[in-house]
Amino acid sequence: MAEKNRAVAYKSAGTVEVIDIDYPTFELKDGPGVNPANVGRKVPHGAIVKTVATNICGSDQHMVRGRTTAPPDLVLGHEITGEVVEVGPDVEFVKVGDLVSVPFNIACGRCKNCKERKTGICLNVNPDRPGSAYGYVDMGGWVGGQANYVLVPYADFNALVFPDKDRAMEKILDLAMLSDIFPTGFHGAVTAGVGVGSTVYVAGAGPVGLAAATGAQLLGAAVVIVGDMNADRLAQARSFGCETVDLTKGAPEDQIEQILGVPEVDCGVDAVGFEAKGHGSDSDHEAPATVLNSLMDITAAGGALGIPGLYVTGDPGGIDEAAQKGSLSLSLGTGWAKSLSFTTGQCPVMKYNYGLMQAILHDRVHIAKNVNATAIGIEDAPRGYAEFDSGAAQKFVIDANGYLGS
Ligand SMILES: NC(=O)c1ccc[n+]([C@@H]2O[C@H](COP(=O)([O-])OP(=O)(O)OC[C@H]3O[C@@H](n4cnc5c(N)ncnc54)[C@H](O)[C@@H]3O)[C@@H](O)[C@H]2O)c1
Ligand SMILES: [Zn+2]
Ligand SMILES: [Zn+2]
Repeated sequence: MAEKNRAVAYKSAGTVEVIDIDYPTFELKDGPGVNPANVGRKVPHGAIVKTVATNICGSDQHMVRGRTTAPPDLVLGHEITGEVVEVGPDVEFVKVGDLVSVPFNIACGRCKNCKERKTGICLNVNPDRPGSAYGYVDMGGWVGGQANYVLVPYADFNALVFPDKDRAMEKILDLAMLSDIFPTGFHGAVTAGVGVGSTVYVAGAGPVGLAAATGAQLLGAAVVIVGDMNADRLAQARSFGCETVDLTKGAPEDQIEQILGVPEVDCGVDAVGFEAKGHGSDSDHEAPATVLNSLMDITAAGGALGIPGLYVTGDPGGIDEAAQKGSLSLSLGTGWAKSLSFTTGQCPVMKYNYGLMQAILHDRVHIAKNVNATAIGIEDAPRGYAEFDSGAAQKFVIDANGYLGS
């Protein structure tokens, strides 16, 4: 088979284009961003997936804004849901025709970290460092899935097969969030220590923040407060029962005190990352340590910070020389004095995606509605990127093969 394969590629800062790429084979070929040690790597354990839903993420935006060292023509896309159309000779259980969610982390299932369910830091898939993902800079060079077709390595380990295809298609926009943001937001809430009765502050009302807020509600939080400087995104958070704080008015303490009677919360989540803006009069420019310092201020002593927001080791657009090396000015003394704990890094999607799938299928949660999931055709991807970048209160889902009728 050699079907046409249209794909969304990063071109230069601010520009993505839809281009033609090769139909995948069971080998990682040389191409933009492919680590030399991965070129020619055989993938008999892989499956070729025809995408049903492949979402645009804030993580893609860091590359598209020119804030990473992503090379031109890198094919984007790590949030993949689709139908298996071919399996390699070493695939035993996943079958052609299965509808699957693909965790954005590529994991071998064989290394020490995978065995401990730490699939965000698999040791065998990225020659540069632990951890890998599709269509991402410094992640080994696995081709992205914002395309008609994508190769999924170690398919038996990575693919989550939906139990009933027809039922899954009825909730496909919700299930499409299992490849990244729903587990990622949920992980943020879990690692912030959210449980029954917790008071929670989530910094950032983008899709990951809204997913963290949804996760906190699912975990039984008494109140979930979401902070951002984007009014439409704050309205989206209120649409499913969150309280909100408007950070153009200043740091969150005062507004949190108005809601809770005290200026602190039990649990803090950073769903912003290194492109954070300041608070109040600084909210129109970047101040990358703002969220981490603020969470240390407002999280009660003994609490925990879940930090799904992305921090990098190199940022060509950083505000100063230190930030360009990923070095931020943190008041760690505050965190130390309050015995706060921190969890950073890629979300190990596989730890959560099965349970969250069941919660979706059995109507316990409506993640697509909460993040305002919106399907668009693949040729419209550049518009989706531009609107998402301008702060639309939407999560764009690319309907590359017309399954979603967009
Ligand atoms: N750890 C992981 O596995 C993982 C997975 C997916 C995404 N991410 C990261 O999560 C972050 C959020 O992703 P997203 O898709 O929601 O991105 P996004 O860019 O759509 O949302 C970020 C939001 O943060 C807001 N913001 C900026 N400064 C702020 C501040 N000081 N306080 C509160 N809000 C502020 C912005 O206005 C924006 O609405 C990104 O850094 C992304 O790379 C991490
Ligand atoms: Zn993502
Ligand atoms: Zn591994």
